[in-house]
Amino acid sequence: MAEPARKPLLAANWKMHKTVAEAQSFLADLLPRVAAVEAAEIAICPAYPALAAVVEHCASSRVRVCAQNMHEAADGAFTGEVSAPMLVELGVDGVILGHSERRQYFGETDAALARKLPAAFAAGLAPILCVGESEAQRDAGETERVLREQLTAGLATLENGRLGELAIAYEPIWAIGTGRTATPEQAQDACAFVRAVVGRRDDAAGNRVRVLYGGSVKPENAGELLDLPDVDGALVGGASLDPEAFASIVAAAA
Ligand code: PGA
Repeated sequence: MAEPARKPLLAANWKMHKTVAEAQSFLADLLPRVAAVEAAEIAICPAYPALAAVVEHCASSRVRVCAQNMHEAADGAFTGEVSAPMLVELGVDGVILGHSERRQYFGETDAALARKLPAAFAAGLAPILCVGESEAQRDAGETERVLREQLTAGLATLENGRLGELAIAYEPIWAIGTGRTATPEQAQDACAFVRAVVGRRDDAAGNRVRVLYGGSVKPENAGELLDLPDVDGALVGGASLDPEAFASIVAAAA
């Protein structure tokens, strides 16, 4: 039987950019550009304050909306945090978890991610789990060890039935926001490795899981990266802030 095709996912990680007004003006420009796209899934990931406005603006389109983080508890004494049910109430579809900036600057751990992933699914959010090695780790030949450890620990509590529904973004830290993109060979090898780690736990999930590449994806390199057999989309930072650039990355996938 033929394997079901994995629909490419292009996610715009806006990080701490765009006010509500800036988000509205971006969407007014982007949505007509991507209105005819059916072959790829598009997700916008704004900062919390713009989520509700982006959900409302995208409601009549196929564009989905993701948050950039969440707490694992449904509620509680966690000042400054946001829970999955709060995001679901706003109409948010998914959530980025474990972005390297969260790991690096805000102490995000694999153990916390192992609690967040099931909580996201339980609330009805589709998670995008981020993994990736630092430059020093790559230079030391530790890329596969790092990816295996992040995936093994982060996915430890997730039931096999959910594994295939996950999107996993492979983002080499040295390529994020640096203008240095992984070569197609590096991206393919790492994304295939991520898939293989999932596949070792559950063969069917390995075939179904969407593995995205992230790290300085731009209109100029999107085509060659998105053509790779184990790359099922992209998590785009800087280039996703510009509607024309992001639409052209979407077009490369579709
Ligand atoms: P970048 O960011 O495209 O600006 O490198 C990617 C990311 O951090 O998700």
